[in-house]
Amino acid sequence: MTASQAARRVAAEEAWRKLRPRLAPDAADSLGAGEADAFLARVENSLFDVHEPLAALYGDRADELFERAVRVALAAAAERPEELRRLDRRREIDPVWFQRARMQGYVCYVDRFCGTLARLPDHLDYLAELGTTYLHLMPLLRPREGENDGGYAVQDYRAVDPRLGTMADLERVARALHERDMSLCVDLVLNHTAREHAWAQGWLAGDPAYAGFYTAFPDREMPDAYDATIPEVFPDRAPGSFSWVPEACGGAGGWVWTTFWPYQWDLDYTNPAVTLAMLGEITWLANRGIDVFRMDAVPFMWKRLGTTCQNQPEGHLLLQLLHALTRLAAPGVIFKAEAIVAPDDLVPYLGGHERYRPECELAYHNQLMVLLWSSLATGDARLARSALGRMRPIPPTTSWVTYVRGHDDIGWAVTDEDAGAVGAEGFGHRRFLNDFYSGRFPMSFARGALFQENEATGDARISGSTASLCGIERALESGDEAALEAGIRRLLLLYSVAYAFGGIPLLYMGDELALRNDRGYLADPERAPDNRWMHRPPMDWTAAGRRHDPATLEGRVFEGLRRMGEVRRSLVALRGGTGSELLDLGSDAVLAWRRRHPRGGTFVGVTNLSPVTQAVDADAVTGFGTFQPVLASDEPLQVYERRLLLPGLSFAWFAEP
Ligand code: GLC
Ligand code: GLC
Repeated sequence: MTASQAARRVAAEEAWRKLRPRLAPDAADSLGAGEADAFLARVENSLFDVHEPLAALYGDRADELFERAVRVALAAAAERPEELRRLDRRREIDPVWFQRARMQGYVCYVDRFCGTLARLPDHLDYLAELGTTYLHLMPLLRPREGENDGGYAVQDYRAVDPRLGTMADLERVARALHERDMSLCVDLVLNHTAREHAWAQGWLAGDPAYAGFYTAFPDREMPDAYDATIPEVFPDRAPGSFSWVPEACGGAGGWVWTTFWPYQWDLDYTNPAVTLAMLGEITWLANRGIDVFRMDAVPFMWKRLGTTCQNQPEGHLLLQLLHALTRLAAPGVIFKAEAIVAPDDLVPYLGGHERYRPECELAYHNQLMVLLWSSLATGDARLARSALGRMRPIPPTTSWVTYVRGHDDIGWAVTDEDAGAVGAEGFGHRRFLNDFYSGRFPMSFARGALFQENEATGDARISGSTASLCGIERALESGDEAALEAGIRRLLLLYSVAYAFGGIPLLYMGDELALRNDRGYLADPERAPDNRWMHRPPMDWTAAGRRHDPATLEGRVFEGLRRMGEVRRSLVALRGGTGSELLDLGSDAVLAWRRRHPRGGTFVGVTNLSPVTQAVDADAVTGFGTFQPVLASDEPLQVYERRLLLPGLSFAWFAEP
């Protein structure tokens, strides 16, 4: 511990010693003796997680802010509905509830899945059939009118998009999920608000309550200085990170910080009033029944001149602060980081710093996702094996969220260093992947499209649905049975890793039915310029009607995924909390990993990413005899002279009984 850290600890203890006598009677009044005790114990327990970040971020104002922040949490705790307090109680007993092997996610847009929130409870049987225990509903808070970045431009955090229903409907959905022991995940867009949000409008109007909520510069000097080192998120239609707003700066006009689209205004978290205001919104939403907040675009929350303005240390402190404060009021609530960043920058969002500091419980395993697609294109698992093997372990109280596809583009977060380690060249490999998945590469099976091609840098990302990127769309068009078979095998193979690598697997709506790219968005002028909409197809309930017919595409994919969930739930080794160890079985095409859990036997997962059969040493895989195949794409497994034969594009799971 450094001297300044030690001093901060003393300062935190001192602040608590002063605050406690004033806070305790108020807590008893608003919560009752028993709950007040628990609340005060939580403050004490997370004292350093709250006070230290306040001191580091806001200096001399730490003590004053500490009291204000704790009182925001106390007010929220007092308003927390009884049924949610009971859920908190259960989760305080089992704080790693989200690590269980039964945890399995499904991600969907409410309107595209079932129209409205009111209709959602009628579809829970469908989700239960898949084994879902965690439902991520894509952005549903009231967005601005017109273009809204798929709901990521929020105008009001305390209202639901009227097209989807009301806040009361959302509360009913949360209750219906909780009755089935399912949890609800909702996006919290905290880097920016819509320009129509009351805070932004108050700031523009010069209302002192919102002074300093956003950032604007009168001329190009600072924007140019920042833009020199900030990578662009949407170079084609929103170059740079600033937008000219004539009404800003008291009507003189100014360049407002807009990392994403011009109508998404970045909040200025150097202003503690912003932090407290956001805390108020989070705790209010937590009390509606949300269990998991998907913390959107967190790498961007703190800016520093001369850097990429991503992954700044203060951004981590801010997340730690919001996390600790939220859990004073709602200890059953957890955070999931959406940090789509390089592997070395990822683990810190789970609190994996030089010393562990509680931050988010969950984070998207973007590396695994990217490397799976990379391996599928090359038929070679070496890059995945080496890059995944090089990653730092995550804190044991956290977990990954593993996924194949989501609502965003795929950005090829393969570092030059990782590519170099297997004799590839970073830029060339990323370009190959873009060519391959956009279908430009001659031998490609994929039907995707380039997203945000940047002619200046040669960078681009990929859009396209899982099924289309796996070759299913192309195969259906050409009526090629063998190609269709290969496409289905690719889809299931990718999910076999997501379901067994460790962490909560997410199934992205429509993948269970192999839904292809949707070109419907092109007819809507607000969505047409953003091709991420091609992989956000509406649910096809007619296709879902075929899910029990094994002779159909839908039947095969749905049953394959349903079964994966079922087997997963039975394997203790697939709990979170321990890492996966990458194995080299002597074939470049085979990705294999091992998981151990102190209370369960060892698990080994194997996939052959190439179309050609691979033979691997059966003893190396399993220590045969003690392990049993528990799930495989091709049964029965063939062992020939102690060599396990893995057919092309196959997978197998083994476990110690
Ligand atoms: C996140 C979302 C993405 C959105 C961005 C801005 O990355 O996943 O869809 O465009 O944040 O909110
Ligand atoms: C967020 C994500 C990035 C994605 C972008 C737009 O910035 O971090 O990966 O490309 O949103 O979809």
